[in-house]
Amino acid sequence: MRPKDIKNITCIGSGLIGQGWATLFAIGGYNVTLQDTSEDQLKKAVEQVQLNLKFMDDNGLLQGGAVAPFSHLHTDPDLAQAVSEAHYVQESVPDNYPVKKKVFVEIDAHAPVDAILASSSSGLLMSEIQKVVTRPQRCVLVHPFLPVHLIPLVEVVGGEQTASETIQAAYELMEKIGKNPVRLKKEVSGYIVNRLQAALLREAVDLVAGGVADADDIDRAFCDGMGIRDPFVGPLLRACLAGDGIENFVREYSDSYRLRWESMAGWSSFSPAMKETLISSVNAMSIVREYPMKEIKDWRDRMLIEMLKLERKCC
Ligand SMILES: NC(=O)c1ccc[n+]([C@@H]2O[C@H](COP(=O)([O-])OP(=O)(O)OC[C@H]3O[C@@H](n4cnc5c(N)ncnc54)[C@H](O)[C@@H]3O)[C@@H](O)[C@H]2O)c1
Repeated sequence: MRPKDIKNITCIGSGLIGQGWATLFAIGGYNVTLQDTSEDQLKKAVEQVQLNLKFMDDNGLLQGGAVAPFSHLHTDPDLAQAVSEAHYVQESVPDNYPVKKKVFVEIDAHAPVDAILASSSSGLLMSEIQKVVTRPQRCVLVHPFLPVHLIPLVEVVGGEQTASETIQAAYELMEKIGKNPVRLKKEVSGYIVNRLQAALLREAVDLVAGGVADADDIDRAFCDGMGIRDPFVGPLLRACLAGDGIENFVREYSDSYRLRWESMAGWSSFSPAMKETLISSVNAMSIVREYPMKEIKDWRDRMLIEMLKLERKCC
């Protein structure tokens, strides 16, 4: 399936991620079918898509208004029917192999033979999911970020049996709907962003657990220190700039980084005490105590809009 031939897109699963995909594909002018297991869930999802479109329109992110994209959206609780004419299927059901595999088997059985089958999984491997389908070469991982309709990045990666044309088509489709895709050269659990996040979260939990700082201060240190610069400068360019050239960085900073890395823990799952620390420290944060989640999310989205308005050009 070539990107220019993709007209009908089905989103399987209409939770947080499926709603975001449906919003984006509808804006892209595709015929979007949103599928989930219950009519109730689909009703909620459609309401959220409408809110997403209104929010984007109110903030100048939609050129032709919100009405036309919304008219491209349909729902169908019947998976077989929902995918029967799909050129591209974006699956966003819960993140575990048994559920993903069951859904992929169904999609594979009912979608057209040349349809692209993409998964939104935030950490599972396509090589494992595609073992259960008859045409594994059509399956690809296309990993978005919350809120899907606002964050530009998607990570695209194939499994062992994925055809390179499938990866390329998914990549080009993402570009067509305005995403900034990054292609991984090979699979790894958590892909790029979630691995970076996992490393940062482990250290943040350790800093709280070790009594170094409170959660409020750790998050403020991140936002006012790294965060303000991170939208423009990633960790590798940052190292280059910090050393006024990467060779000098390696020469000057290897020892101090060694001391930091040596003092960091290497645990790989939350102990009961870690869970306790994480829950109590985050619940003690002033923003979490003072505002409902919905208000925090709305504020985050307004701030994201401001960021998106900044034109990101290379110097
Ligand atoms: N939440 C995030 O921050 C995030 C970010 C990126 C990727 N993802 C990935 O996206 C996927 C979905 O995550 P989410 O946050 O939207 O989850 P969610 O729980 O909000 O939504 C999942 C939806 O799938 C539906 N569902 C369950 N079984 C189904 C089936 N057999 N057929 C059709 N629909 C079914 C559920 O009813 C629910 O509406 C996961 O793989 C997750 O890892 C999540």
